[in-house]
Amino acid sequence: MASVPSLATQVRQRVSDALAAVRPQEASADPSPRPADWGDPMLRRSDRADFQANGMLALAKRLKTNPRELAGQVAAQVDAGDVLAEVEVSGPGFLNIAVTDAAITSNLAARAADDRLGVPYADAPGTTVIDYAQPNVAKEMHVGHLRSAVIGDSLVRVLEFSGETVVRRHHIGDWGTQFGMLIQYLDEHPHELDHGGAAGDGTSGEEAASNLNRLYKAARAVFDSDDAFKERARRRVVALQSGDPETRALWQRFVDESKLYFFSVFDKLDMEVRDADIVGESGYNDMLDETCELLEQAGVAVDSEGALCVFFDDIKGQDGQPVPLIVRKSDGGYGYAATDLSAIRDRVFHLKAQTLLYVVDHRQSLHFRMVFETARRMGWLADGDGSGDGAADGPVATATQLAFGTVLGKDGKPFKTRAGATVRLEDLLDEAIDRASAVVREKADKAVPPLTEEEIAERGAQVGIGAVKYADLSTSASRDYKFDLDQMVSLHGDTSVYLQYAYARIRSILRRAGDGARPAAHPELALEPAERALGLHVDGFAAVVAEAAEEYAPHKVAAYLYQLASLFTTFYEHCPVLKADTPAQVENRLFLSDLTARTLHTGMALLGIRTPERL
Ligand code: ARG
Repeated sequence: MASVPSLATQVRQRVSDALAAVRPQEASADPSPRPADWGDPMLRRSDRADFQANGMLALAKRLKTNPRELAGQVAAQVDAGDVLAEVEVSGPGFLNIAVTDAAITSNLAARAADDRLGVPYADAPGTTVIDYAQPNVAKEMHVGHLRSAVIGDSLVRVLEFSGETVVRRHHIGDWGTQFGMLIQYLDEHPHELDHGGAAGDGTSGEEAASNLNRLYKAARAVFDSDDAFKERARRRVVALQSGDPETRALWQRFVDESKLYFFSVFDKLDMEVRDADIVGESGYNDMLDETCELLEQAGVAVDSEGALCVFFDDIKGQDGQPVPLIVRKSDGGYGYAATDLSAIRDRVFHLKAQTLLYVVDHRQSLHFRMVFETARRMGWLADGDGSGDGAADGPVATATQLAFGTVLGKDGKPFKTRAGATVRLEDLLDEAIDRASAVVREKADKAVPPLTEEEIAERGAQVGIGAVKYADLSTSASRDYKFDLDQMVSLHGDTSVYLQYAYARIRSILRRAGDGARPAAHPELALEPAERALGLHVDGFAAVVAEAAEEYAPHKVAAYLYQLASLFTTFYEHCPVLKADTPAQVENRLFLSDLTARTLHTGMALLGIRTPERL
């Protein structure tokens, strides 16, 4: 497992070295901290050349010297080695840089020799807790839960790939006063949660969902109309909180039933959710008292009309009055905030995480702002960016909410059924799978050999679920996106199907070539422009993965892959592979195709999307 520096990195290093040689006094005058524009030529991919370095402009400005002259000196000083083909001053003082064909092919060969495609691990990996895929017990999952699951799953994959230790936490809503009513109702109608389906199969998941729905509605109706029931339900809340075994057992039935349902949805989403990682609100119950004591002792939370509250100068309601974070209600009950504050303590002090990430709907942003600020005042989270200005012996963990946008319908309004109801997640996924299966079926006969019914069903699921995930992951998480199945399963444009077909096409070429040993690279060969463009893009994979991990931005991987597939298409149009001029050229093009396929496969896996061998 060797990490392979990209050509971009190598070029940047060579230009930096030249800069340092041209202006050594600058390099030593102020060695630390290094001025941002010193030694960093700010390299970009460019249309005019393979790369463009424009850092000389800023440096020249600072040194009050002529930028073209400085750039010329640097260009003359650069050690081209066998990497650089040309370094040329252009414009007001850029350097246009071309690399050699041999450097491209050799660098790709080094990537191909590595299982990780030469992608390095992050410099200083730590432990990150990702809070994602957190639906609520006894309630239907909605598209917001879908987003959290899809984005969170991808972030788990991206961060783990970068070497981070990731702890997954599914903070399900399994606690709260609404359980009083549900438990009491179940106690009075004990057969309401019985069902015939065997646990673990898909039917039992759907049955569980409809059982819970029915029970919720029925309990609600009695609760709203029958005061005596309401009182019995209230006593159940107390019994649940004080740990009464019979009440706990009834509660557990709701949790189990809901998990049956959640797992059926996660299964359909082709997503691994482990039972041990489900630590719902109830999991922090034993910490709540202590959390409140600590907040009170520190004076961070104060009594306000019997409730325990935290106040913030800059958070005010519409009436100008400060909006507090209520940690404990005046009736003594704990809410969502107390649980989240306790979860922070658990994650920082027990799980020893340096980074807490919450993949939660933007509508909860105020909540998290207040919770994080409270934790900072307590010293549970570091101030600012976590660079260590917290208490000397305290934790330096930071917390971030990755606040995602709303899923919209085609009409641009929040996604609902025509009747205005929330869309059932399973229906949505089933429809995506149906549409995708139709697309797969249409092409299936042309495949050689044709796909079997079983293969069509399997591919249909992989394409359909991939489509849903990709639509979500290809826009930046903070933005809203339109849920448009027609667009999602289209073969043209920025869709997962397009990427899956690109992958399957390459695999089919490789199969036709024999698909034996990995094709070898031939650095001695000159490259066509389409080969260079594809090769340089493949070489940039590591940088994109690093960026996606750093910025929690899986959409950057998606954009990269889309461009990769497009560049492959162009390459394939311009450069015959199996019918290339010489056996060496055939092999070199097979090599490039194979590495493109592996990059597509690895990148899609980071998004949680399958790449079938045949479509
Ligand atoms: N269960 C919540 C909901 O459905 C999301 C939980 C988010 N995570 C957290 N630690 N509060 O809205």
